[in-house]
Amino acid sequence: EVWNPNGKYRVISTKSMPGTRWIKLLTDQDCRVEICTENKTILSVDDILALIGDKCDGVIGQLTEDWGEVLFSALRRAGGTAFSNMAVGYNNVDVNAATKYGIGVGNTPGVLTETTAELAASLSLAASRRIVEADQFMRAGLYDGWLPHLFVGNLLKGQTVGVIGAGRIGSAYARMMIEGFKMNLIYYDLYQATRLEKFVTAYGQFLKANGEQPVTWKRAATMEDVLREADVISLHPVLDKTTYHLINKERLAIMKKEAILVNASRGPVIDEVALVEHLKVNPMFRVGLDVFEDEPYMKPGLADQKNAVVVPHIASASKWTREGMATLAALNVLGKIKGYPIWTDLNR
Ligand code: DGY
Repeated sequence: EVWNPNGKYRVISTKSMPGTRWIKLLTDQDCRVEICTENKTILSVDDILALIGDKCDGVIGQLTEDWGEVLFSALRRAGGTAFSNMAVGYNNVDVNAATKYGIGVGNTPGVLTETTAELAASLSLAASRRIVEADQFMRAGLYDGWLPHLFVGNLLKGQTVGVIGAGRIGSAYARMMIEGFKMNLIYYDLYQATRLEKFVTAYGQFLKANGEQPVTWKRAATMEDVLREADVISLHPVLDKTTYHLINKERLAIMKKEAILVNASRGPVIDEVALVEHLKVNPMFRVGLDVFEDEPYMKPGLADQKNAVVVPHIASASKWTREGMATLAALNVLGKIKGYPIWTDLNR
């Protein structure tokens, strides 16, 4: 699909993206926009090399693609200077290689913060109240009347939410769980989440002034403290060498038997084989997963676990956010092509 065929700058998007604002932004600024319509979910490096061809000024790519040495050198040879991932995470991008070839790299933070946090909150609720299990039970025609034991789950109010990685998304999630369900907070992060702490303190005072039990917060000295103490734990770290298999067999073992673990960050943060084993022997332990170690696959056995809620990497999938991500990615590429610093510069 080609827009503004006579545009001076050739910009490729490896996927069709929601909305048209991003296309207009580029075409209004003399870009020819080519959208790959290949009927294939994940493009290989060779597929993308063919797209780049001999002349390409900038590319908007996806988190499913491997943006390393090969693609950045090809982009350079084609005269390109700009690349943006349509994602906040960029573990699929070798930023050093891009920098080496003079390619500016951007990502799409901010516009997906609340949407992603809402999905993590949805997974927390779905897991704690066993919503998917109950839905399947209904559809299977198994409901034959109200019972005191039917799909009993956990009450969140007064319990402790644990956040690992209290950056933008982790903090937004924490606020939702605290304000929405009056949960106490324990978090672990290398940096102090000052605004989040202030929010919990103020909200606690508000509750107290209204005769309710105040909420509390604690910054944990170690990640293990969060795993031991929290009832619902949500993972929000960046995926890199230090966070690969952050949640492993040993760390699962110290969590509460009835804890809920949510992951809407990146799959490899959890050792999924260890998780499947843990779910099998701890039926009251529940997980809500948006991401998987070997996407698009799940490790064997995960799909059979009733105590797992699984969704296909849709945390940022609200219309507003996806259009925002596309627009921000286009701005990143456009800015660099026009000689400005890339909007969300990653080549520090
Ligand atoms: C991201 O942006 O990194 C998400 O995983 C997809 O929105």
